[in-house]
Amino acid sequence: MIDSPLQVSDRGPVRIITVNRPDKLNALNAATLDALQAAFTAAANDAGVHVVVLTGAGPKAFVAGADIAEMVQLTPVQGRDFSQRGQRMMRAVETMPKPVIAMINGFALGGGLELAMCCHLRIASDTAKVGQPEINLGLIPGFGGSQRLLRLAGRAATLELCLLGAPVDAARAQQLGIVNRVVPAAELEDRTMEIAAQLAAAAPLALRGILDCVNFGGESGIEEGLAYESAQFGLMFATEDMREGTTAFLDRRKPAFSGR
Ligand code: COA
Repeated sequence: MIDSPLQVSDRGPVRIITVNRPDKLNALNAATLDALQAAFTAAANDAGVHVVVLTGAGPKAFVAGADIAEMVQLTPVQGRDFSQRGQRMMRAVETMPKPVIAMINGFALGGGLELAMCCHLRIASDTAKVGQPEINLGLIPGFGGSQRLLRLAGRAATLELCLLGAPVDAARAQQLGIVNRVVPAAELEDRTMEIAAQLAAAAPLALRGILDCVNFGGESGIEEGLAYESAQFGLMFATEDMREGTTAFLDRRKPAFSGR
């Protein structure tokens, strides 16, 4: 078997994708970008997968950024291509038709924070640190950081993190709206898997409708966004899960969703 920069495993309907270069703090080289693109495409296409959890191997890092050793020699055209390669993969994560949870177990810097920001929920260990330190390398974010951090946390936080380049700790990242929850390091996996299990039991077509409304409707004007939401809402009435969910509520029982 060819060495892969990822570990992929399943716990029931939850697919766990682990960036596995712990000796390089899981830095994203081109091979890792391509492996992630393939792994997320496979997860999207596998009907048995309901939720994806993305994390990094080892105790120190989620992902410490794009691979600086690989970038040091790039020409401008290669730099643009590397940026587009990363952006394509990250857009595929963001537009996944199933929820993706970033389990941030340590440093999420540069490309690591950019990758985490493409995920739909971010659960961080209290030991995590996040930031956009590219300025310290004479660089700027290249995998969407300037755009996604702006949307997630606003201008003040984006300009602070990108201009000053200093990472913030997990508690501050939560205050800024960058991570959803901060949990003790020892509980990170259990707490993340609890959320994954909740999502795995939810109605998949409704989850997808929400993701689509935020990803596509959310990027248009209010009229287009509202029209998109109405169309998705209407579509739910074609699903068995909507009948099951509403009937179960009225019958005072727990719904059993089928994904149809
Ligand atoms: N690209 C390539 N290699 C990286 C890397 C990156 N983004 N981040 C860490 N590494 C490598 C280090 O070069 C080192 O490799 P070596 O043992 O072969 O020398 C190894 O991972 C461990 O990193 P080290 O710096 O020794 O760990 P540390 O605990 O002292 O510091 C960080 C941790 C995260 C503060 C530090 O590694 C760092 O600043 N990394 C770069 C972060 C960054 O600028 N990211 C944005 C890139 S665009």
